[in-house]
Amino acid sequence: MQEILDAILSPDTTSADFAAIKLPESYRAVTLHKDEEQMFAGLDSRDKDPRKSLHLDEVALPELGPGEALVAVMASSVNYNTVWSSIFEPVSTFGFLERYGRLSPLTKRHDLPYHVLGSDLAGVVLRTGAGVNSWKPGDEVVAHCLSVELESPDGHNDTMMDPEQRIWGFETNFGGLAQIALVKTNQLLPKPKHLSWEEAASPGLVNSTAYRQLVSRNGAGMKQGDNVLIWGASGGLGSYATQYALAGGATPICVVSSEAKADICRAMGAEAIIDRSAEGYKFWKDEHNQDPREWKRLGGRIREFTGGEDVDIVFEHPGRETFGASVYVTRKGGTIVTCASTSGYMHQYDNRYLWMSLKRIVGSHFANYREAYEANRLIAKGKIHPTLSKVYSLEETGQAALDVHHNKHQGKVGVLCLAPEPGLGVRDAELREQHLPAINRFRNV
Ligand SMILES: NC(=O)c1ccc[n+]([C@@H]2O[C@H](COP(=O)([O-])OP(=O)(O)OC[C@H]3O[C@@H](n4cnc5c(N)ncnc54)[C@H](OP(=O)(O)O)[C@@H]3O)[C@@H](O)[C@H]2O)c1
Repeated sequence: MQEILDAILSPDTTSADFAAIKLPESYRAVTLHKDEEQMFAGLDSRDKDPRKSLHLDEVALPELGPGEALVAVMASSVNYNTVWSSIFEPVSTFGFLERYGRLSPLTKRHDLPYHVLGSDLAGVVLRTGAGVNSWKPGDEVVAHCLSVELESPDGHNDTMMDPEQRIWGFETNFGGLAQIALVKTNQLLPKPKHLSWEEAASPGLVNSTAYRQLVSRNGAGMKQGDNVLIWGASGGLGSYATQYALAGGATPICVVSSEAKADICRAMGAEAIIDRSAEGYKFWKDEHNQDPREWKRLGGRIREFTGGEDVDIVFEHPGRETFGASVYVTRKGGTIVTCASTSGYMHQYDNRYLWMSLKRIVGSHFANYREAYEANRLIAKGKIHPTLSKVYSLEETGQAALDVHHNKHQGKVGVLCLAPEPGLGVRDAELREQHLPAINRFRNV
């Protein structure tokens, strides 16, 4: 492993040098263990501790298949799917691996008693499989997390529609929270040159998701002048949605839960900010009944910011707790676009406000190949910036996941894998200099 790291850190290493490095038989990776699937049975979600379920193990290097690459991972990030995986909710991820393993002899590799997690990476290509022409050893890359087979016409217009669509490092094995990862080369994208490894690794999953959900015509198709209500506006998804709204000439109305998070939204350029904790919204009176007066109070607050207008789009992901309010506050003909249900997936809303006001609920999930490319291109051009707040070592991934689980983080949380320290990997210092304050907005707050 040291030889790989030395090669990456040296400015003179050629592609042929990388190709000549003998790969190790094993590597260190953050794993879940199949025989621990039931370890949290009976506990409340909040009490399920990722530090107990996430292990740092030495695992065997997987065999490289056609159309695939082995990548030396310099940095990765924690996503909420790391949290879901580590607390085995809503289901254990080993079911995903078993199902994938039934598809072909090659996918059988993924069905193991351990699961290497992680759906983001920035690193260097070590080897490519048969049939790969566009990528070679030594290429500096990031990887998006869409894994598809594309053998069915269903996915040929929009790769998210593939019946064998999976999220790499969540529904497949050999993810990015490791020293080496296995990806399909169609997941690879050029690493933004002005960013360090950990900065480059942090946007991938959430940035692509926010792009499809808010900007793409497959999602809400946001346009100039739209009012956009963004839940969790300083969180993983929300920190990108807020930037997309501002960059696209829309007005974000940012919902957050603390003054520190409100400050971060202001630093991004947002002016309309609602602190849901300080203002004490309680959309549910009890377990079964919501309080429409609270929906109305939120709607009134939004109108104070917009000069009396309602929102064109609600960027939804908290789910059960907020969905009734989200449907209510959307303007006539507007769109509620949802990609998640963090607080519960059985939603309840008053359908009269939906049909009588001709609103639409749109489901959105990750991003297709092209959308992931476009989202990364905007990062590479310095138009959208990483929202990395804190960086952990591979050993500390459990703590990093616990922080996200308990909503103690800002923006994105990074993990150094092979990178010995933060700040390495910048290749375009000039572009970086232009955007330094924006790149560092979330750091250590
Ligand atoms: N379908 C997809 O492709 C996809 C992709 C990425 C993420 N997701 C899912 O989307 C969800 C959010 O992911 P993320 O990365 O943005 O997580 P995150 O970094 O934890 O941010 C979510 C934010 O939502 C807010 N929030 C949490 N619970 C809330 C509640 N009950 N009511 C109102 N606001 C609440 C919090 O902000 P405040 O406390 O400041 O309000 C939190 O910071 C997760 O469930 C994740 O699995 C789905």
